[in-house]
Amino acid sequence: MSDSAKHPAMQQNRVLIFDTTLRDGEQSPGATMTHDEKLEIAQMLDEMGVDIIEAGFPIASEGDFKAVSEIARQAENAVICGLARANFKDIDRCWEAVKGARRPRIHTFIGTSPLHRDIPRLSRDEMAELIHDTVTRARNLCEDVQWSPMDATRTEQDYLCRVVEIAIKAGATTINIPDTVGYTAPRENAALIRMLIERVPGADEITFATHCHNDLGMATANALAAVEAGARQIECTINGLGERAGNTALEEVVMALKVRNDILPFTTGIDTTRIMNISRRVAQVSGFPVQYNKAIVGKNAFAHESGIHQDGMLKNAETFEIMRPEDVGLKETSLVLGKHSGRAALRARLHDLGFDLADNQLKDIFVRFKALADRKKEVYDDDLIALMHDSASEAEHDHIQLKRLQVICGTEAPQSADMVLEIDGTEQQVTATGDGPVDAAFNAVKALFPHEARLQLYQVHAVTEGTDAQATVSVRMEENGKIVTGQSADTDTVVASTKAYIQALNKLLVRRQKRRPGHDSNVAS
Ligand code: KIV
Ligand code: ZN
Repeated sequence: MSDSAKHPAMQQNRVLIFDTTLRDGEQSPGATMTHDEKLEIAQMLDEMGVDIIEAGFPIASEGDFKAVSEIARQAENAVICGLARANFKDIDRCWEAVKGARRPRIHTFIGTSPLHRDIPRLSRDEMAELIHDTVTRARNLCEDVQWSPMDATRTEQDYLCRVVEIAIKAGATTINIPDTVGYTAPRENAALIRMLIERVPGADEITFATHCHNDLGMATANALAAVEAGARQIECTINGLGERAGNTALEEVVMALKVRNDILPFTTGIDTTRIMNISRRVAQVSGFPVQYNKAIVGKNAFAHESGIHQDGMLKNAETFEIMRPEDVGLKETSLVLGKHSGRAALRARLHDLGFDLADNQLKDIFVRFKALADRKKEVYDDDLIALMHDSASEAEHDHIQLKRLQVICGTEAPQSADMVLEIDGTEQQVTATGDGPVDAAFNAVKALFPHEARLQLYQVHAVTEGTDAQATVSVRMEENGKIVTGQSADTDTVVASTKAYIQALNKLLVRRQKRRPGHDSNVAS
């Protein structure tokens, strides 16, 4: 047994799950979530047993501050953490936001690698002093302080040991070791954690965390290697959302620890049966769909299409399945409802899918369900989920609403769209042409509601199989550096596209209003 293996931190096998979907994930360009969406995701994270939720970066904007404060007040179990750079203003603002939590945490960081030290033009000694002062400031406000040397994996090891020791002495209770640019590899990341545990005085008093980015596709492996070396907190996001190639995916590390507990004898507090629901919801609100063959949560992760696989599966599921779909909350998907299904059947099925509705909500969804069932004979679970998410994103107070759309298309260009929009309560009509039906519809929206916003991304996915499948459309739009997303689902791709486009415009309008002096909105961010 190595010296580090005798370390007390390594003898406990409980690994804390620190979710940063709402901070590092949301920071990814285009993954912006509204205030209500952030609250909803935070509640789902809390309910699934995440230990620490990094709820945002309070100094970044008024919207971030409000979201972190409200998540702090709402959380029942999880520690609520806010991010702060290494200055008193950030730290004080962060404390203001998290202090209402039952269990608040301040997470402060600074880039310690040579490249990062160069940006504020600080010498090693000046940076060491700043780390001492800022961690002390945070600790005077809050008992639970996390400190991160950003780009730790590219920081000189002697200097890293020195600053980690300073942060511990100043009161940090968790030291996070970020692989900010996704550069490390499992063996190297493990050696780094082991080295810190062995060399830094006071290391046995605190928790080491690992924060890995996925630029080389090694984020999950790097995080698990760090745990084997003594880290007891994994920083991760749902669906691996995050800057560039993303962060370690929560579902991957949690299921790896569960399924391979024989060789990775560590536990988490996560209720894994909630994974699929939160994965779908994060994909929906962030506008980042999950790739079909993504581990654990991809559409194909439990699908067995080839004849050999199907034959084996029917005889014994374990031939090709290392975990059961139910373990991640995937229910047997089959034909569920149709146009003759009643309200009770709909309520029961939605309950199984994780949606518990009040009577008035059920009434609204039932009307939409009937309309869908009229157009589509077979309504599958995925259709119901798309319906739920679509109705959640349509707000009654939207400035722009689609009232009617008629598209004429054929082999002869141009295609045309006849559209009626209700804009701030007044119905307006136009006919516009375009290069294809979606282009024509978008041109009609532009004619009725002129704007400068640029369409950055347009994606269509079929929710289920068949020509009557619903299409889920995601759009990403940019205006003056602000990026918003819109999503919608419909059996008609042009209608889904138009609704998604209008939803993104409505979000931009909310943002514009927030920027008006004197406007005190807490609706979107
Ligand atoms: O990747 C990173 O270094 C970060 C820090 C702020 C922890 O996200
Ligand atoms: Zn990060």
